[in-house]
Amino acid sequence: MSQDLFEAARDAMALCHAPYSKFPVGAAIRAEDGAIYAGANIEVLSFPEGWCAETTAIGHMIMAGARRIREVAVIAEKLELCPPCGGCRQRLAEFADPDTLIHLCDAQGVKQTLRMDELLPFGFKTEVIG
Ligand code: THU
Repeated sequence: MSQDLFEAARDAMALCHAPYSKFPVGAAIRAEDGAIYAGANIEVLSFPEGWCAETTAIGHMIMAGARRIREVAVIAEKLELCPPCGGCRQRLAEFADPDTLIHLCDAQGVKQTLRMDELLPFGFKTEVIG
């Protein structure tokens, strides 16, 4: 069931633009509309301005009109498991639910699965804005 999400993340990773770090990452989101939105990391010469695979995938989801994340898969070519960075945890959490599953994958498939609220306990939230 998460095999398709793993494959989408793996295939997206091959499309990364990571000439500086040479550290390919892929991510795939299953959204509330049932569709899969994938992304890879994209780097630019001004190093801090590049962005993560998860962020690319969220952008694709939003631009397709979907708003809620049901499931996520992440894979990095050179790391056994690639837990999303802190900034991506915040971005994912804003479109996910506390029990949304995040699958960490290697080249063979899903190796570890965590809940969103395990990845980002006590994340930033406020009713004051928006
Ligand atoms: N990267 C991701 O795409 N996702 C993460 O969760 C961690 C890091 C990317 C950013 C950069 O292009 C490369 O990995 C090395 O940090």
